[in-house]
Amino acid sequence: MEIKRVGIVGCGTMGAGIAQLVLQAGYGALVMEVEQGLLDKGVARIKGGFQRLVEKGALAGDKAAGFLAGLSGSTSLADLGTCDLIIEAAFENFDVKMDIFSSLDGLCNKETIFASNTSSLPISKMATRTGRKERFIGLHFFNPVAVMPLVEVVKTIATDGGVLEQATQFVKSLGKTPITAKDNAGFIVNLFLTPYLLDAIRGLGEGVASTQDIDAGMKLGCNHPMGPLMLADFIGLDVLCNAANILFEEYREKRYAPPPLLTRMVTMGYIGAKAGRGFYDWSNPKSPVPADL
Ligand code: 3HC
Repeated sequence: MEIKRVGIVGCGTMGAGIAQLVLQAGYGALVMEVEQGLLDKGVARIKGGFQRLVEKGALAGDKAAGFLAGLSGSTSLADLGTCDLIIEAAFENFDVKMDIFSSLDGLCNKETIFASNTSSLPISKMATRTGRKERFIGLHFFNPVAVMPLVEVVKTIATDGGVLEQATQFVKSLGKTPITAKDNAGFIVNLFLTPYLLDAIRGLGEGVASTQDIDAGMKLGCNHPMGPLMLADFIGLDVLCNAANILFEEYREKRYAPPPLLTRMVTMGYIGAKAGRGFYDWSNPKSPVPADL
C-alpha cells in the first residue's frame, strides 16, 4: 500500500511541525484536534511555519500556498478513516493515546499504519490494544521539528519488516534521517539525553555551579547549541520529569530518578519556556535570563 494521505492526531507544536513536513513532501495531510478552537490554533501554527519559510526567502509564496492546499482539518476521528498512515502527536498520556488508537482501529482500513510520536511511552503496549500490532510503530520527531534532522523509527518485537521499511522510506521522503530504535524506554536519544539533563539539574541543586555557568560550560566546552538547563526549559520540565519517571520505572536505576529540584519546579508550575519560567525567566523569549531559584 502506497502512503498518500497522512492523518495527524494532535496539532500542537509537534503535530503542526510534522504536518508541515508531510505537506512539503507532497503528501495530503489531515490534522485532527479535539475541538474547533484547538484546530484553528493548530492550522494557524502550520501556516505560521510556512510563512516563516516565505519570509526567510526559503520558499516562494505560491509554492507555500500549493502545499497548504493539501491540508485539511477535522475535529472528528472518523474523518481519518481514509488515511494510509496515522501519526499520533497527542499529549503524553497513555490513556488518551489508547482511546485514540482503539477508536481509530475500528475506523481505518486494516492496511493503515499506526505510528505514535511518543518520546517515552511503550509502543508495544499501545500496539496490543489494537488489532494491528504488526502495523504499529513509533515515529519520534525532535523539537523544533522543522530544524532537527533526526527521526527515531521505533519497532516492537511484533512490527512487520515491510512496515518498518516503509516507515523508514517515509521518513527519508520527509528529508529527515531515520534511525531504528527498539521499543525500550527512552529509545536511543532520550536514553542518553535524559540522564545528562538530570545530572545538570542535580548539579545545580547540589551547588556545583550557577545556571549560567553550567550552561556556558556545556555550550562552550562541548560546542552544544544550548546548555542542558536551557534545553530542559525548552523541552518542558513536566515532559522531562515524566520521561525520567518512565525511564526509572523501566530500569530502576538511580540515574533516571528525577532530582528533588526538578520535581519541586514542576510542582510550582515552573515548567520552562512555555510557562514563562523554569531555570530561566522567559519574559523576553528572545533573551532568557537565569531565574532566581
Ligand atoms: N521552527 C522552525 N525553524 C526554527 C525554529 C522553529 N521553532 N527555531 C529555530 N528555527 C530555525 C531558524 O529559522 C534558523 O534557520 P536559518 O538558519 O535557516 O535562518 C535556525 O533554526 C537557527 O535558529 P536561530 O538562529 O533562531 O537560533 P539557534 O541557532 O539558537 O537555533 C535551535 C535554535 C535550533 C533551537 C538550537 O538552539 C538547537 O538546536 N537547540 C537544541 C535543540 C534540541 O536539542 N532539540 C531536541 C530536544 S529533545 C526532543 O525533542 C525529544 C523529546 O522527546 C523530548
